Amino acid sequence: MRTKQEWLENLMMCEDCKVLGKGKIGCYWKKQHCPLCGKATRKFKAPKADKVLRFPREANTLTARQKEIVAAIGERCSDLDCPGKVVDVLVGPVVTEYIFEPDRFTRVKKLKALNEDLALALQVDTVTIRRMAGKIGISVPNPDRKMITFEECLKNVIAHRDDMELPLNMGVTSTGEAYVEDLATLPHLLIGGSTGSGKSVYLNTLLTSLLYIRSPKQLWLYMVDPKSVELFPYKGLPHLRRDPVNDVYEALSVMDTIEQEMRRRTNNLHILKAKDIKELNTRIKAEAAELKKSGQPELAKKREEDLWPYIILVIDEMADLVLAEKKMFTQKLACISQMARAAGICIISATQRPSVDVLPGKIKVNFPARCAFRMPSATDSKTVLNYKGAETLLGKGDCFLMSPNKSGLQRIHVPYCTPADRDKMLKISLEFGHVNSVPADAPPEQPLTPTPANGKQDKVRVN
Ligand SMILES: Nc1ncnc2c1ncn2[C@@H]1O[C@H](COP(=O)(O)OP(=O)(O)OP(=O)(O)O)[C@@H](O)[C@H]1O
Ligand SMILES: [Mg+2]
Repeated sequence: MRTKQEWLENLMMCEDCKVLGKGKIGCYWKKQHCPLCGKATRKFKAPKADKVLRFPREANTLTARQKEIVAAIGERCSDLDCPGKVVDVLVGPVVTEYIFEPDRFTRVKKLKALNEDLALALQVDTVTIRRMAGKIGISVPNPDRKMITFEECLKNVIAHRDDMELPLNMGVTSTGEAYVEDLATLPHLLIGGSTGSGKSVYLNTLLTSLLYIRSPKQLWLYMVDPKSVELFPYKGLPHLRRDPVNDVYEALSVMDTIEQEMRRRTNNLHILKAKDIKELNTRIKAEAAELKKSGQPELAKKREEDLWPYIILVIDEMADLVLAEKKMFTQKLACISQMARAAGICIISATQRPSVDVLPGKIKVNFPARCAFRMPSATDSKTVLNYKGAETLLGKGDCFLMSPNKSGLQRIHVPYCTPADRDKMLKISLEFGHVNSVPADAPPEQPLTPTPANGKQDKVRVN
């Protein structure tokens, strides 16, 4: 077990404090100050993305078991009329991928249906087969599954804090390489998976890593949690524009607020002749840099306050909302997801019921990035990903990711953000994050629409 000091030193490398070993918790987004001693420092250095790969490829040294599997795959496939050979072995933290090169006349469709036969031949619970560029990847679970820890993967997000707007801590790929996506480019993420497959842990991982590197001035959050379990610990966080809600009408009211903000931002973008939030923020940053150069740091600081924050709406368990108010909820979600990209509004939504009545085409079409954890059936996998296969995943954070930035499916192992990790990160944000982040021109919070049937009062948080 690492001590608090070791944990902090590992994340925030201020040379002076490393030597002196002072123990004050700091927040990363105050990065111009040393997080341990609070003094301005230039020695701070975050690790580079390529230096934090966790499990390097080890194809040359095969164990006896791996050699056995290589032989068994070749044999079994040719027995079943799909001849070919294993050409590479990629060892990862959770699964080992055997790269299979089929013969000229082998049909991929037939090969992809062999997972049950191969699982039987290799004496494992499940085998996942996916098509890659020119080859087939056959993933077999490792006998000793390694835990992907949250602390380890947090470094990957820190390394991308400057070149990505909203870096998401996705964990590692099946071959053990760090995987980070920019939510601003997705810009919405749909998460599906059966109960206990790791959706809420994934939401916590994504959110806590983002909160760690983005201040309330850079990121606003809205949270909807019909189960009132997973997102309620975030209550009181300075990034939240309103306390997490659990009622369907409160959720609709939150979506109303976001829609109004989206329309206000879109109008302002037209007036300011900017294409999207990224262009506008880049322009403002350039102007602030000019002012700083010309010796007017106060004016530059003032100009930097005009930067627009990104907004993320997080929904844990969409099915409860869709089933309660299907028409209004789908309409609003579709409207926001269609138009929100330019305005810097992103949605992360999870559901344990990935059926067609919960995920109509109108919603799915606006969520090009989709993440499928272990599914109960191949039909559910098809509903989320348009492909079969997620039913063969291992659970506990093992998932397939479909991203508009990458072709094909990525197999990802999500870091395990334990409740203790989450609380540690929230403590950091709560202790240092209470800054007055609301710009003067922010829209007022909206009253409830429609009037809730249960007569509950809308709790609006005033920052
Ligand atoms: N990445 C992970 N690594 C290791 N274990 C994990 C991981 N993700 C989840 N688990 C384990 O699975 C359990 C259930 O995870 P989680 O609560 O996220 O499931 P869920 O998909 O949200 O379920 P539900 O649909 O019932 O809310 C966790 O308590 C944890 O023990
Ligand atoms: Mg959950």
